[in-house]
Amino acid sequence: MARSATMLVAVFSTLAMLAGAALSLPEGVTGPLPFNASGFLPWNPAELQAHLAASAAAQNLSVDYHKLTCPRLRFIVMDRMYGELMADSSLAAGIIRLYFNDCFPNGCDASILLVWPNPEMRFDQNNFLNRKVWDVIESIRKSVHAECGPTVSCADILALAARDAVVFAGGLDFEAPLGRLDSLAPAIYRDVSAIPLPTTEQASVMLSNFASRGFNHPGDLVAFSGAHSIGKAHCASFRDRADRQSDAFSRQLFLACRQDVYRLQELDHVTPNRLDNQYYRNLMAGEGVFTSDMALLNDPMTASWVTFYQNNPRKFLDDFSAVMSRLYTVRRGSRSGEIRRYGCFKPNSAGPGVGIPRAAGSDQEGAAASA
Ligand code: HEM
Repeated sequence: MARSATMLVAVFSTLAMLAGAALSLPEGVTGPLPFNASGFLPWNPAELQAHLAASAAAQNLSVDYHKLTCPRLRFIVMDRMYGELMADSSLAAGIIRLYFNDCFPNGCDASILLVWPNPEMRFDQNNFLNRKVWDVIESIRKSVHAECGPTVSCADILALAARDAVVFAGGLDFEAPLGRLDSLAPAIYRDVSAIPLPTTEQASVMLSNFASRGFNHPGDLVAFSGAHSIGKAHCASFRDRADRQSDAFSRQLFLACRQDVYRLQELDHVTPNRLDNQYYRNLMAGEGVFTSDMALLNDPMTASWVTFYQNNPRKFLDDFSAVMSRLYTVRRGSRSGEIRRYGCFKPNSAGPGVGIPRAAGSDQEGAAASA
């Protein structure tokens, strides 16, 4: 185990170095591109660093937050994640989605992990979240708390796990300042509804959802959406698109789901397990799975970024990690919080005695398949 973690640290550091080296304008960029007065948008490296540093300081967060209280934290999480991902690589997509769906409504506060009372996952936006991920995060928390005591929040553990999942899938490492607290309660519907539904037909709706969380640039939404270059979806999530049978791909989806309604559709049927810009190529070929994916082409502001990322694979990786890093800047509804000490699934007020509701089993029961 120690050896595997050491190898992973080496791989991760190399990737992080490459990521750092790549924070410059892409060469040979052609075509219409959104620029602003300060240069290349939306992630001028210097502006991004300044923005992130200011936000982290304002929230009392720091990459070294646990340096004294849990010096081996990064190693423990990485070691555990490596083992889990090697055993089941589909967890990478599950963790990335879980992290986004946790952070977007109300800040990264592990509110999505609360299964008691009134869990956030009852909302449509959280349909089919991979439930194995709950157990993975809880099991890592146990390892961390066994070594360091209850000093690290579930929110921090989820952030570190998401970084590892991105790198495992082929993305670039990103900074995730730590010191966040776990929420005392799940997010309410008004906040969760900021996550768009897959049936969303207008890019403008998604643009305004993302702007409401500080992601004001069309490139933010398009880079984020590149997460759909990994992972799978249930027929129910793209039924609207399949039923319309409006193009060759939706007809394939329709036929495949008619044959087996429990099948899982790869979101990127060309490179299903690799976080890369193939997603944008698929969109251009009419092969986006969700109505919301295809909607990115309906608006010139987002469509130009789809073309851009299709032509600039490296810039996609840079920008994807940049938006993932910026997730921690999403505002918190309330400053109060805690470090959950009896498990990530319930607030401390529930006490140690009450059985921890177990999130056992996976919702991903179908067989992996592609149209
Ligand atoms: C922009 C609007 C978005 C919509 C409408 C959307 C919707 C969905 C839906 C419905 C699923 C499949 C659920 C299922 O049937 O199993 C899914 C999967 C996924 N989403 Fe999104 N999503 C969006 C943005 C994002 C973002 C920003 C991220 C991450 C940064 C993300 C990461 C993922 C991943 C990795 C999966 C695959 C999960 C797995 O295989 O376990 N999504 N998304």
